Amino acid sequence: MSVSTAVADQSVCASLPVLGRDVTVPLVTGGEVTYAALDYAASAPALQRVWDDVAAYAPYYGSVHRGAGYLSQLSTDLFENARRTVAEFLGCRDGDQVVFTRSTTDSLNLLAAALPADCQVFVFETEHHASLLPWRNARVTYLDAPSSPRQAVETLERALADRTVPNEGGYGPALVCVTGASNVTGELWPVRELAAAAHAHGARIVLDAAQLAPHHPVSVADLDVDWVAFSGHKLYAPFGSGVLAGRADWLRAADPYLAGGGASRKVARRTDGGVDVEWHESAARHEAGSPNVIGAYSIASACAALTEAGFDNLVAREQYLIEKVRTGLAEVPEVRILSLFGDDAPRVGVISFVVEGWNSSHFAAALSAEYGIGVRDGLFCAHPLLRTLLGSDPQTQGECGAPEAAPGEKSLNAIRVSFGAGTPDEHVERFVDAVRELVQDGARWNYRTEDGRCVPDTSA
Ligand code: ALA
Repeated sequence: MSVSTAVADQSVCASLPVLGRDVTVPLVTGGEVTYAALDYAASAPALQRVWDDVAAYAPYYGSVHRGAGYLSQLSTDLFENARRTVAEFLGCRDGDQVVFTRSTTDSLNLLAAALPADCQVFVFETEHHASLLPWRNARVTYLDAPSSPRQAVETLERALADRTVPNEGGYGPALVCVTGASNVTGELWPVRELAAAAHAHGARIVLDAAQLAPHHPVSVADLDVDWVAFSGHKLYAPFGSGVLAGRADWLRAADPYLAGGGASRKVARRTDGGVDVEWHESAARHEAGSPNVIGAYSIASACAALTEAGFDNLVAREQYLIEKVRTGLAEVPEVRILSLFGDDAPRVGVISFVVEGWNSSHFAAALSAEYGIGVRDGLFCAHPLLRTLLGSDPQTQGECGAPEAAPGEKSLNAIRVSFGAGTPDEHVERFVDAVRELVQDGARWNYRTEDGRCVPDTSA
């Protein structure tokens, strides 16, 4: 299907409806409007299909791996089948493990806890904090922000070639952590090339696919990455689960992420009074406690729905929306879209920008209160990247009410609009019109700062 036929009748949008599409919210200026959810990068709405699947299963809910009863058996099957569905969705290799976690952050912290001794970690400073911070107990090298995908690969290659810590005659283990799509700029990173560079230098690589998997097909085998991590709540399955999938060896060799039931196969008192534990070698090793079967099932349901809808269609539809937003914003000279790799870089539906003369928190508050549009403002848990993109010492929030970034001054934080499956044309059109109107005419309401957030001042 060509881009134009995929997008003309919004059929992809209709075939993957999300919850909340009819929700109305009050406007501070009076009246109500349907809510335009344009903050998918933070948390995407649940797919209707996911909700329906979860609702259909809910009466049959039972404990996983723990009960003799029928519903417990059924729930265990559902949980293990979810693992297989996710493995298939991610194009995993034979022998790869799929571990259900709470989120991408949890997945990467799990991998960080499973690093072999003396492992050296390489990570670009441009990463989301979830992939930037978990490695702090390892020997970590932070790589400077690249200005192109090519420079990213060259930077990594140089750093890996400079790996000068011989370990018993060779080089110790190393891990590269890289994002698939930036949660700030939406730009795609050259994952395949970075993986090749990592492997050429004897390092492994983990892909943070939190912002990639909801928008693009991800194949562990094709990209040749060692692990991939993503979250259910960005993949239209907001039921508290995430995934770490990939090579079993480091995971099997590591201590369980959490110690407890489910992770242990056999526990016995020793004669000296202590306790001996035999841990599972399967994914269960890192899933102690009662597994979140609804979370896992909801992710599998989302994987199935996205696969059935077809990523070709989804990507085409999203590119159409991206073009609409970028073209609309380009017509407002006061708007600057944030980008590391430039206008032509391939990207997903995540776009951050600043508006000259506006504090971003103020702007986002006005979009919400006066137009019913939900976006995110701030630094998006990627402070070093925002420092590079803004060229300022960024702040998570600014005082609202008075513009902080006066003409010619640098912004201290940014606004982000993001979308995906189920986003109708009207939402992005309303957004572009609202940006134009706010810049031209200013806000129609007064705003004040309350508990660090910019809110409409309703005290008068
Ligand atoms: N990682 C999420 C975001 O970028 C929370 O908004």
